Amino acid sequence: MADGSWYDADIDRVIISEEQIKEKVQELAAKVAADHADAPDGVLLVCILKGALMFMADFARALGKSGPPAELEFMAVSSYGHGATSSGVVRILKDLDRDIAGRRVIVVEDIVDSGLTLSWLLRYLESRKAASVEVVALFRKPDANKVTVPVKYVGFDLPNEFVVGYGLDYAERYREVPFVGVLRPEVYARD
Ligand code: IMP
Repeated sequence: MADGSWYDADIDRVIISEEQIKEKVQELAAKVAADHADAPDGVLLVCILKGALMFMADFARALGKSGPPAELEFMAVSSYGHGATSSGVVRILKDLDRDIAGRRVIVVEDIVDSGLTLSWLLRYLESRKAASVEVVALFRKPDANKVTVPVKYVGFDLPNEFVVGYGLDYAERYREVPFVGVLRPEVYARD
């Protein structure tokens, strides 16, 4: 764990280190680059805010080194409230800025938990006539098996615990933590 950071006291343990994330992002980008080397207009990366912001930034740069040209788009949806449990309700907070018809879309997602958000998003993007829609998710929880969502590229399978860091928050905090970890129970008791 990092030393001397404000969040040290709140983190119980590290699940995925900064180094492991770095390696995995390169690996995922290399796979996507190989599969889309022939994309005539490049690919359109759709980052799902806010959780996927760190992943999008690192993934896009890694893809840029060996992959086809990429355009970056951002969407914000809400599926979680101010806490650690899924509401199952998906609401668009920020929509795409452009037409995606005929484009190869790659959804850049932080974590697939129940898969509810993603299955809704995929239907939405397909309805906008993308040529193809694939998903790259850095993390997946065991519950992801409950809903059938085709996630072509997955980084890490995580245990069924609430995690924070590398973009993932608890009540909008801990997104800047460079690794993925579990919070101490006292943190939840504070709210
Ligand atoms: P799903 O609809 O249940 O798959 O939820 C997906 C979204 O919930 C993710 O994009 C995250 O933003 C959030 N989420 C799921 N699990 C966690 C977690 O362990 N920590 C922080 N956010 C999470």
